[in-house]
Amino acid sequence: MNSYEKFLSSLAKNIKASEIRELLAVIRTKKDVISLAGGLPDPQTFPKEIIAKMAEKVVAEYGDYSLQYSETKGIYEVRETLAKFLKDIRGFETSPDDLLITTGSQQALYLISRTLIDPGDVVITENPSYLAALGAFKMCGANIVGVKIDEHGMKTDLLEETVKRLVSEGKKIKFIYVIPVSQNPAGTTMSSERKKHLIEIANKYDLLVLEDDPYSYFVYEEGVDVTAIKALDTEDRVIYISTISKILAPGLRIGWIASPKHLSRKLELVKQYLDLHSPTLNQYILAEILKTSLIKEHVRKLAPFYKVKRDTMLKAIEEYFPDDIWYTKPIGGLFVFVYVNVPGFNAVKLLNTAVEKYKVAYVPGKSFHTDGSGENSMRLNFSYPPPEMIEEGIRRLGELIKNKG
Ligand SMILES: Cc1ncc(COP(=O)(O)O)c(C=O)c1O
Repeated sequence: MNSYEKFLSSLAKNIKASEIRELLAVIRTKKDVISLAGGLPDPQTFPKEIIAKMAEKVVAEYGDYSLQYSETKGIYEVRETLAKFLKDIRGFETSPDDLLITTGSQQALYLISRTLIDPGDVVITENPSYLAALGAFKMCGANIVGVKIDEHGMKTDLLEETVKRLVSEGKKIKFIYVIPVSQNPAGTTMSSERKKHLIEIANKYDLLVLEDDPYSYFVYEEGVDVTAIKALDTEDRVIYISTISKILAPGLRIGWIASPKHLSRKLELVKQYLDLHSPTLNQYILAEILKTSLIKEHVRKLAPFYKVKRDTMLKAIEEYFPDDIWYTKPIGGLFVFVYVNVPGFNAVKLLNTAVEKYKVAYVPGKSFHTDGSGENSMRLNFSYPPPEMIEEGIRRLGELIKNKG
């Protein structure tokens, strides 16, 4: 057959590859390139022995149940254990009935989009924002409206202006999506005032908030307020999502939604048709780990480990980059985001030269921007490469920026 075009859905016809995944696939084949482009946790942090021990225990103790089909929302015992963990670590109450175990938080993003968005609806996000979230929203037909950020996160005064404008234009806003702690890609953390203001706006204009929280479980600075927005919510408007990808291992593909009461059933019904349920064995493994002190002990080790890498990157940026840059000093997460304010600097156009001539890779920041801006920005990952590679990679990028190619 020559062409399958006529068989494709309009979604499939229009879908675009994730630029990052394509880029990473190419870079992976070039062994001499230092990649600051990925977003992978360092595999040295994976608690392999704990996971192996728990997998054995689960299969021995739960027997056939550990490998059987299970409830769409997630195994009750797992949701119960997770509810306790969230109360303890993130400070909000959620009933196991309103928790939904998902296949990574990426599935949560898609599931929520599928449940809430009709084509043409508006989703408000930070600008820049997480690429794969923007992709999921767009796939369901959302019009994305970005709101500028600074080092304190989304500028909520601008958010309120935007909401007012959209409401006066008769637009349907489905939710406001934020990553309040150590945002991907920008590395920003929302201040307490902004979080309160965001909730006030949601209450005033009757809106939902989607809080994506993969990075607050360990941070590199003391005394920063990382209170969950969900913990400030008095009107059940916040849909909270998170994941074990950064605290245990992404390959287990377990995330969750702590949903407002009235949404949990609909989310469950939509998930039925995506995958019936998330992996039973992995859910039990998570529950066993959460029941012990192992999780806290493990998470406690992550902050000092990644802090060394973050500090290496920040120090190298100070040393090797020109002065005309704006960048975040993230309190957590995996990335530093840099805007290069050198006239003519275009991170998209220079990527090929960076890889071929300077042997260093980054993700052009433009992909994360909702309005086509950000050509002069780049996302730099510090979690995966070893410190000496981080320093050398930044040195090479410094040369690229100074020479503009
Ligand atoms: C902000 C944000 N949300 C969601 C995800 C998806 O994570 P996962 O599907 O592994 O839970 C990531 C992954 O990097 C992320 O940075």
